[in-house]
Amino acid sequence: MATNLISTIGARTMGDAEYEAWAAEVRALATARDAVILAHNYQVPEIQDVADFTGDSLYLSRVAAQTEASTILFCGVHFMAETAKILSPNKTVLIPDAAAGCSLADTIDAEQLRAWKAEYPGAVVVAYVNTSAAVKAESDICCTSSNAADVVRSIPEDTEILFLPDQFLGAHVQRVTGRNNMHIWLGECHVHAGISPTDVREKVKAHPNADILVHPECGCTTSVLYLASSGELPADRTKILSTGGMVKAAETTTAPEVLVATEIGILHQMRKVNFRTKFLPMNDKASCRFMKMITPAKVIRALREGLEEVTVAPDIAARARASVEKMIAIGNPSKGGE
Ligand code: 13P
Ligand code: SF4
Repeated sequence: MATNLISTIGARTMGDAEYEAWAAEVRALATARDAVILAHNYQVPEIQDVADFTGDSLYLSRVAAQTEASTILFCGVHFMAETAKILSPNKTVLIPDAAAGCSLADTIDAEQLRAWKAEYPGAVVVAYVNTSAAVKAESDICCTSSNAADVVRSIPEDTEILFLPDQFLGAHVQRVTGRNNMHIWLGECHVHAGISPTDVREKVKAHPNADILVHPECGCTTSVLYLASSGELPADRTKILSTGGMVKAAETTTAPEVLVATEIGILHQMRKVNFRTKFLPMNDKASCRFMKMITPAKVIRALREGLEEVTVAPDIAARARASVEKMIAIGNPSKGGE
């Protein structure tokens, strides 16, 4: 029973014929609209498979900045589509459901950031890309999970940093950069915070030969690193990676099993690039309800009706663009970084 359940996580729910018919309609509508389809690694498998580009936040931002298509259909959450609009203000950016938000982005608004900045005059504000356009406009430089450490290293060592909004990513970046003048906002993503040290202990006990891949937003990151350094977890087989970094690691691993601590949508990409290894969720309930608001039916509606269009006020977009452009210039330009 448990094995069957796990094998269906991250798998398509449409049958082959149904998928082919749906995908053909999506492709035809995208061509008619001159649209490029971008999908985040947490989207449902059908949408990942039909997209022109599937990847992590940094990779998709770079594609959005460079595409020649006149329309971008962004299958992901709202801040990702907003970032695409900030980078390509003259293009039409569509999202299949504009209510697809992000609990992490919602932990700080522009007013709260202005108040925090007032407490630390002269500090550089590093905003994770999981933030609203208004928060990006108040920030100096953005980062994603794949280049956060490089972004922090790019700031002079004697300059104080305000890092927001994810506390687990902030703690991870502080650890790898050795930076002690970083102040970290206490935000978290409900999906990743829910992957606990207990989940890790139980799964590692059941799969002792598995490699362990952990997204830095996870609530278990600190304890995973502690357990790895104390010998309770295999340090050489434990890695903290962005979703793009996880797919890259999946391509080359020779491990029989890999335990994956992030949103379960990623398992589809990992299984696509490696049929030999078994990719297992660290917590099979780690599903982002916002990402799953983007459904195959809404993709068709978006392309047919040109809905829902993402807009960003030009003054906010202009201020946010500088920090987002710095972000896409830093770090590994491939499908996913660290
Ligand atoms: P990545 O940048 O690793 O794709 O992560 C985005 C995200 O929303 C994680 O929850
Ligand atoms: Fe936001 Fe968490 Fe969903 Fe990522 S998984 S989009 S951080 S709510």
